Amino acid sequence: PLTGPKQMFERAYKEGYAIGAFNVNNMEIIQGIMQAAGEEQAPLILQVSAGARKYAGQNYIVKLIEAALMDTDLPVVLHLDHGQDFNICKDCIDGGFTSVMYDGSHLPYEENIAVTKQVVEYAHARGVWVEAELGQLAGVEDEVSAEHSVYTDPDQAVDFVKRTGCDSLAIAIGTSHGAYKFTGEAKLDFARLEKITNMLPGYPLVLHGASSVPQEFVDMANTYGGKVGGAKGVPEDLLRKAATYGVCKINIDTDIRLAMTATIRKHFMEKPADFDPRAYLKPARDAVKNMVQHKIRNVLGCSNKI
Ligand code: G3H
Ligand code: 13P
Ligand code: ZN
Ligand code: NA
Repeated sequence: PLTGPKQMFERAYKEGYAIGAFNVNNMEIIQGIMQAAGEEQAPLILQVSAGARKYAGQNYIVKLIEAALMDTDLPVVLHLDHGQDFNICKDCIDGGFTSVMYDGSHLPYEENIAVTKQVVEYAHARGVWVEAELGQLAGVEDEVSAEHSVYTDPDQAVDFVKRTGCDSLAIAIGTSHGAYKFTGEAKLDFARLEKITNMLPGYPLVLHGASSVPQEFVDMANTYGGKVGGAKGVPEDLLRKAATYGVCKINIDTDIRLAMTATIRKHFMEKPADFDPRAYLKPARDAVKNMVQHKIRNVLGCSNKI
């Protein structure tokens, strides 16, 4: 059934694992993720970005997820990813989402607090969870050029949570969105994560930009005509380590895109006469399923936690 993340995070926090939050845009992605979580008996967060909402339409996404839930007892959170203003959060809350993210991380601190509070007030009156964000995820260029750290300040995180009443907090400790996360060595600021965890005991933290960018998919895409050279993600052992701190939710989108696209590229090159979409979407869906199953079992550690 659809559920909020409260119990999921409480147990994940205590036992030192993380729940996977996977971005969904269409039927094949939803089915691949649901199959993986079903086989692993894993709790699950399906998240929808503004772009996904625009691509598929909110009703389609919600109804696809409802359809998926007719065949399973798995607990699933329906979450808005990176809500950019109050109105999109409101639309999703009104539309049956059990969790929303308001992302005011780009705003001046007091403005981020003000809008986050507004979302919290609306959401909590309706039993909906609110994730907020503090600090900026460093892109490859930011990391090089930023004079001051845009990573989350631990003291500010405590103040932010206290003043907004948000239920979980996305923090910046070195991850970034997309397939090009690090130019040199991949590293996360674990000293900062430890400090934030200690200063907010029991409080669930969220890691965005947490795809690993598996080399096998990069190689496969490049072998079959793609151009994704130099892509680099967060090593899986660092994600597993982050889950032993306050991190309870780990966001993954890029790895889904890579798995699907690499698989479809391969199919197109190997079977150029095929033009039935089912012929290439089926292996693409299987690739999503296998990738997600691997994450759940070997990286997030949330198999058999329902
Ligand atoms: O954080 C961003 C997610 O990967 C969603 O990406 O806005 O292109 O749908 P999108
Ligand atoms: P990736 O680009 O690393 O998959 O991050 C996804 C994300 O943070 C969605 O909010
Ligand atoms: Zn994100
Ligand atoms: Na944790």
